Amino acid sequence: MRIAMIGGGYVGLVSAACFAEFGTEVAVVETNPHRLAALQEGRIPIYEPGLDKLVADNIEAGRLSFGADIAAAVRGAEAIFIAVGTPPRNGDGHADLTYVFAAAEQVARAMDRFAVIVTKSTVPVGTGRRIAEIVRHARPDLDFEVASNPEFLREGSAIGDFMRPDRVVIGTQTERAGGSERSQEILRRLYRPLYLIEAPILFTSLESAELIKYAANSFLAMKISFINEMADLCERVGADVHDIARGIGLDGRIGRKFLHAGPGFGGSCFPKDTLALMRIAQEAGASSRLVEATVQVNDARKASMGARIMSACGGSVRGKVVAVLGLTFKPETDDMRDAPSIPIIHRLVENGASVRAFDPAGMDAARPVLPSQGVCYCEDAPDAADGADALIVLTEWNEFRAISPRRLRELMRGDVVIDLRNIWEPDAMADAGMRYSSIGRPDGRTTGTSSREAG
Ligand code: NAI
Repeated sequence: MRIAMIGGGYVGLVSAACFAEFGTEVAVVETNPHRLAALQEGRIPIYEPGLDKLVADNIEAGRLSFGADIAAAVRGAEAIFIAVGTPPRNGDGHADLTYVFAAAEQVARAMDRFAVIVTKSTVPVGTGRRIAEIVRHARPDLDFEVASNPEFLREGSAIGDFMRPDRVVIGTQTERAGGSERSQEILRRLYRPLYLIEAPILFTSLESAELIKYAANSFLAMKISFINEMADLCERVGADVHDIARGIGLDGRIGRKFLHAGPGFGGSCFPKDTLALMRIAQEAGASSRLVEATVQVNDARKASMGARIMSACGGSVRGKVVAVLGLTFKPETDDMRDAPSIPIIHRLVENGASVRAFDPAGMDAARPVLPSQGVCYCEDAPDAADGADALIVLTEWNEFRAISPRRLRELMRGDVVIDLRNIWEPDAMADAGMRYSSIGRPDGRTTGTSSREAG
């Protein structure tokens, strides 16, 4: 079997490598010349654990190839996946479908036989149908079907998520005369290895599949905003948000995952997908008040982090050296899109701090989006902490956890630690003589007193 993947970014590249691993021949089309050159030279332009080996193995096996020539990639393909970006459209929160529609047009012109055109990108309800119109308009002669196969992988564990998914969702044109047997048959064959491991594969209409992706991300974002609100409440009443998360999460109806309080969600998906769902609901004349509240709570939370840091630093950071550990929006990725570090570091620098930054994977991606002056990029976490007046943890890489509070005390000039991911224990920090503030927990050795009261 042969397929084409339009877009070789986080989703396109991981999906292509995993489909190739399943035994399918996959031709990836990538228009960004830097990304393409890297891929053709066998370098992986993104950080994703295990991906370099998977890509190398499948290139070696002759199942995975990269190019810019869409016609060559699409020739003989039974399925053509569109995995290009759908960033928020300037200003209004709608998903920007420019890349998707451009790809659909290019695919239409290049197709030479029946194929199913599948959106892997996260796209608003109705996009599959608009793609069908674009293709029909460009090539009235073509025999094709469209399908929606949203992707649920998480950066940082993308290969495992793709290979052993909780579920696969496939939406097809159920209203077509004669149904959509051909696309269903092709996609069943493509996902055959997942049938063998009994992963649930859900066939729905196009509209349902498109909406499932937004509903899933919005629900997860809602869980994060909920636990963040609980963390604030914990700080007021002297409770511990870890106990709350465990105490509610052990209830199977709630579930333990996605109950980690932090600086607010960022990343390439939740911020844009929650906004897009609000716009989809608005256009459909439906309410999306829970999602709106989720976004508002998150925006307020992100904005409040700067004030929290200022206050922990004694009201001002002017002239101070502030170490920042973790720049990407979460560990195990180099993705800086909508990372909480961006507004926080800009604010620190604007207020006169000198920042010593370190991230295990995201340094290259961080440079273009962080202030051009006032940020020093360090070798590793201890190097960043060296001589700092205050230290902020923004993502929870294991290598940060491994640094003991005593070691921090030795390295730093000051004693302020602001841990927005709760990677250290308050008591251990207090024992090391640090002034430690974390999220939703009593400060060390002050159990029973709220952190605000404890100052
Ligand atoms: P990305 O920006 O990393 O990758 C998109 C790639 O497509 C870029 O390399 C771009 O150069 C390329 N491209 C754009 N137009 C093209 C064209 N006409 N022909 C060939 N290549 C083209 O984006 P990412 O993160 O992979 O996201 C893609 C889609 O998947 C988005 O809709 C996103 O919401 C969705 N998604 C992303 C997840 C993630 O964790 N990053 C997870 C699940 C879904």
